[in-house]
Amino acid sequence: MKIAFVGKGGSGKTTLSSLFIRHLAAAGRPVLAMDADINQHLAVALGMDEREAAAIPTLGDHLPEIKDYLRGDNPRIPSGAVMVKTTPPGRGSRRLPVTGPDPLLDRLSVRMLGARLLATGAFTEEDLGVACYHSKVGAVELLLNHLLDGPGEYVVVDMTAGADAFASGLFTRFDRTFLVVEPTRKAVAVYRQYRDYAATYDIPLSVIGNKITGSEDVAYLRDQIGDDLLVCLGHSPAVRAMEQGRPLSIDDLEASTRTALDTIHHTVDATPRDWDRLTRQMVDFHLKNARAWANEATGTDLAAQVDPDFVLGPDLLASR
Ligand SMILES: Nc1ncnc2c1ncn2[C@@H]1O[C@H](COP(=O)(O)OP(=O)(O)O)[C@@H](O)[C@H]1O
Ligand SMILES: [Mg+2]
Repeated sequence: MKIAFVGKGGSGKTTLSSLFIRHLAAAGRPVLAMDADINQHLAVALGMDEREAAAIPTLGDHLPEIKDYLRGDNPRIPSGAVMVKTTPPGRGSRRLPVTGPDPLLDRLSVRMLGARLLATGAFTEEDLGVACYHSKVGAVELLLNHLLDGPGEYVVVDMTAGADAFASGLFTRFDRTFLVVEPTRKAVAVYRQYRDYAATYDIPLSVIGNKITGSEDVAYLRDQIGDDLLVCLGHSPAVRAMEQGRPLSIDDLEASTRTALDTIHHTVDATPRDWDRLTRQMVDFHLKNARAWANEATGTDLAAQVDPDFVLGPDLLASR
């Protein structure tokens, strides 16, 4: 299952991503975590010290290698140079496991609490808002499209706050998206915008209320968000203590936070995989990007990369 945590900067995306990763890892589930936020804080939120976190290999620095590896011997993709962020897998492309051995992921990831962690690297000025095929979140989109995850396996992405996710098909790559909102008008406005995108593209969306200080906050979000509001979290002293430098273990979390994590987990597990939507949107966004900029950027007709006989589905999973 592929899961994204999205929301305004400061809403708690990294906090919720890290708590959910800790929750899954503590339950012994296979987890691949990806830090795709502009501010790279996920490794530290998972307990790594700043110096070690700064030394994690970054996807942004390894894009040519990633592209070359993923295209495998797919005859429709003769070189990494014509592989853009939306290039879909086809026959011959490499598929990635969640936690199992893989030469590329073994080189680029680190292990934390039993989970595998990948990081895009911090965004620079020229990464922001560009639909260019070098963009760092492009690596995340490519990896997600080549990742073959089954039920009971989890890919958790701490997403970029900005509109970057909407510049390609990235926001459609998830089985379920969790939008973290604070009980404020601004956050509710972000929710409305996301809800409209999600509805247009049939994307399962749940809202997590965060930094709730009382029943008025809950009532406000309930009124503004209705049934999309899944759970509410208050201020967590355990999270604050970790921010102050105390190591956090899952057992330190308050009962209410743990209950919220259980609810999030059940919600993910109850989400059916929609292979048809994921495949269709992967192709649609590729063709859209090809027309908008990528054909011109690569000097080729990238529609030819779509393999009409390649089906992303349960058979592929069974053949792993
Ligand atoms: N439920 C919570 N309890 C305590 N502190 C929180 C909680 N949620 C977020 N925070 C704190 O708020 C700040 C911003 O959260 P963060 O997860 O980094 O936001 P984002 O990733 O969306 O920018 C951090 O200092 C974090 O520790
Ligand atoms: Mg963050």
